[in-house]
Amino acid sequence: MLLFSGRANEMLSRAVAAALGIEPGRRTIENFPDDEIRVEVQENVQDRNVYLLQPTCPPVAANLLELLLLADGCKRAGARRLTGIIPYYGFARQDRRCRPGEPVAARLLADLLCTRLDRLVVLDLHNPAIEGFFPVPVEHLSAVPLLAETLRPTISDDHILVAPDLGAVKLAQRYADRLELPLAYVHKERQSGSKVIARDLIGEVRFRKPIIVDDMISTGGTVASTIRLLLAKGCRPEVTVAASHALLVGPAVARLAELPVRRLLTTDSLPQPTGRPFAVEVASLDALLAEAVTRLSQCEAKVVRE
Ligand code: R5P
Repeated sequence: MLLFSGRANEMLSRAVAAALGIEPGRRTIENFPDDEIRVEVQENVQDRNVYLLQPTCPPVAANLLELLLLADGCKRAGARRLTGIIPYYGFARQDRRCRPGEPVAARLLADLLCTRLDRLVVLDLHNPAIEGFFPVPVEHLSAVPLLAETLRPTISDDHILVAPDLGAVKLAQRYADRLELPLAYVHKERQSGSKVIARDLIGEVRFRKPIIVDDMISTGGTVASTIRLLLAKGCRPEVTVAASHALLVGPAVARLAELPVRRLLTTDSLPQPTGRPFAVEVASLDALLAEAVTRLSQCEAKVVRE
C-alpha cells in the first residue's frame, strides 16, 4: 500500500501515514511560473494499491486538479488501484439546479474524479445522496462519533443540540441520540452565498446552553444568525459550535468573534490555522482514515488471494 499526499493537507496525510506505520510516498509537486501544476511521483507504484489524500478545500480548483494530476501520474506508472481520500468534498452544496442554466457541480466533480480514481473515501458529505453520483465504490465516513465523544465530557443537563437549518436536522439528531440531549432546529432562509436569515426556531432553548452542529461552516452566516436568534429566544450566552468542516472563509472569523462562542470544535479535514480570536479545538481524523485504509487494503488482499 502507498499513500501520497497532495499539498492541501500534508499534516493530516503525515498523521494518517504515521497511524498506518508508513511514510507518505515521495512525490514532487510544484507550480511552473505560469501557475501550471507539475506533479512527479517518485515511488514505484507498479501493481500497487495507491491512496491519494487531498481535500478539495480552497483553492478548490487547484486542489482538485492537483489530485487528478497525482492520480494520472500513478495510473500511467502502473498503479493497480487508485483510491482518493477526500476528507472535505468541495462543490458539494451545488448538488442540484436551483435555477435554469446552473450546472450540477457536485456531479461534474464526481465525473471528473472517476476518470482517474477507482474508489473514494469521503467524510460527511453535505448531502449523503452525492454518493450516488459516483459509479465507483464510495466509503462515506462520518466525524459525528469522534466529535460527539469529544463533547461528551463537558455535557450537562442544560445543554441543547441545535440544527441551524432543516438540512442539518438528521445530523443533529445523530448527535442528540449519542449525547442524549434534546434538539431544537432553525428555519433558515439563504439570501446569497454569504447572507442568511434565521427566521424562527422550533424547540425550547430558554436558560439552556446551545451546541450548534452542522456539516460545515463557510462564511459563518448560518451559525452567526442562529446564535442571534438563540440569544433572542433566551438561551444562555455560552455557545458551542461543532462542524465536521470549518472553512471559515471571508467574514466568518469576524462574525463569530463578536458572538459568545465559547468553543468551536471541528476536524482536520482541511488545515486549521492557529490564533483564532475564539477557542478552536481540532479532533484529528488520522485514526479514522487510517482504519478505513487498513480495512480497504485487507479487503483488497483477500480478493487478490481468492
Ligand atoms: C448549508 O446547508 C450547510 O449545511 C451550512 O449550513 C452552510 O454551508 C454554512 O455556510 P455559511 O457558514 O456560509 O453560512
